[in-house]
Amino acid sequence: MKVGFISSEVYPFTKTGGLADVSGALGKYLGENGVDIRVITPLYAQSNVRSADFHPVDFLQGLSVSFNHRKLYYSVYTAILPGSSTPVYFIDCPELYHRDSIYTNHEDEYLRFAFLNRVSIEIFQYMNWAPDIIHCNDWQSALIPLYLKTLYKWDKLFKNTRTLLTLHNVGYHGNFPLHVVHELGLTDFMPLLDDFDTRQGRFNFLKTGVIYADMLSTVSKTYAREIQTPEYGHGMEAMLAYRSQRLVGIVNGVDYTEWNPETDREICKNYGLKTLNLKAENKACLLNELKMPYHFQQPLIGMVSRLVEQKGVDLIAEVMEGLLEDFSFQLIVLGSGEERYERYFYGLQARNPERVFFYSGYNNTLAHRIEAGADIFLMPSKYEPCGLNQIYSLKYGTIPVVRKTGGLADTVKAYDWQTQQGTGFVFEHYNAAGLRWALEHALNTYAHPEAWMKIRIQAMKEDFSWDRQVREYLSLYQKLLKMD
Ligand code: ADP
Ligand code: GLC
Repeated sequence: MKVGFISSEVYPFTKTGGLADVSGALGKYLGENGVDIRVITPLYAQSNVRSADFHPVDFLQGLSVSFNHRKLYYSVYTAILPGSSTPVYFIDCPELYHRDSIYTNHEDEYLRFAFLNRVSIEIFQYMNWAPDIIHCNDWQSALIPLYLKTLYKWDKLFKNTRTLLTLHNVGYHGNFPLHVVHELGLTDFMPLLDDFDTRQGRFNFLKTGVIYADMLSTVSKTYAREIQTPEYGHGMEAMLAYRSQRLVGIVNGVDYTEWNPETDREICKNYGLKTLNLKAENKACLLNELKMPYHFQQPLIGMVSRLVEQKGVDLIAEVMEGLLEDFSFQLIVLGSGEERYERYFYGLQARNPERVFFYSGYNNTLAHRIEAGADIFLMPSKYEPCGLNQIYSLKYGTIPVVRKTGGLADTVKAYDWQTQQGTGFVFEHYNAAGLRWALEHALNTYAHPEAWMKIRIQAMKEDFSWDRQVREYLSLYQKLLKMD
């Protein structure tokens, strides 16, 4: 089976969030399971491609593609995805991809990613490689299904190619003014675009993918249901409900070669189920590194997150001050995102210097150390398609406090004080009282070492390895190939 996998970020080359982890892992695990998979992604100024085998593809140099009257030049480089034999192809176009960040608010953002869509198709043409499936991810590659049905319809190479669009986050649409349609070369196909959007003078990349992909998937079963409702559909619920027969939920896996306390090279002291006592050394180490006092019995709450509304920072802001007054604990937050949230955490740290630490920015090593060192992991998302950090936390015995939504609902089992079963603390409604209740429940349970140990063990025994999850993708691919 030949699969072209298109993604705007692929770990370990580029990463802003979970899409990168999932793209890297799927590239690797699908390859290991016999799929001839070729991954295509942009070469950003930020891409980490220092690996020894990174080199130009000789027959893919100095090429161009025209958008309306604009001709854009590119070359293609390749490298093997570490730990696999899967090739990754990087599209080098400095004019589009050498910017201050991977994603921008620049006026030509639509072009940066429409380019990824068209060049991916053209790379397959130059390779004379007919993919059975093109697997697209999020809005940045959601135009491929439409392009295959329009601009590239003439090419017999794609006669049997099916498309799958995975929705990692329906909150990000790639929504642009309608005039971009001309620049994207789609003027003649205007009637194929969503009528509602065109009347509003808009063009929506993700919705276009939702309409034209042969199959849709998202990253948890609960989120697959949620996005068909107004609360979670971000205006796309009707279209998603209409296509529900073609929409499946597959919960993300974890690459345990990266996220496993027994082998993690980023943390101070490796530990596992049988050596759980060593976890405390990671806490001491982390607090010491951040110049915070270490109190053996005081719980440490950790958070690693993009700081955006989705992640529930507003709720944290409502409850944290009061909680700090009523309970003794420390809090370490690693994240970057909206300025208002960064300002909030800086303020909280300034008011509680020995108890709160905020690290603004992206730091992979610190993310691992927080997973290993913290006792409780905070993730009170407003919505969460899947979420990876709560699953990493389970493996590190760092008990998640989450809201019952999307992938959080599918991966964390609510702790029941009576039966002592469960792997985390789960609240249902998105409000401050819910979060306060869950955090109180977690902090009170932490004070009972035996109960806490039991939850830790239950959490660490959970298995979300890709070996298992990848089988769901394989059967989805099989189903897609058999579809009319
Ligand atoms: P999302 O993709 O919505 O950001 P996920 O939980 O699926 O959420 O994935 C987030 C990934 O990004 C995790 O691997 C997490 O460790 C990582 N991450 C998020 N913020 C940071 C940061 N500031 N520094 C390092 N890693 C981060
Ligand atoms: C998105 C979602 C997150 C998910 C990730 C990978 O960024 O916000 O919940 O885990 O994609 O699928």
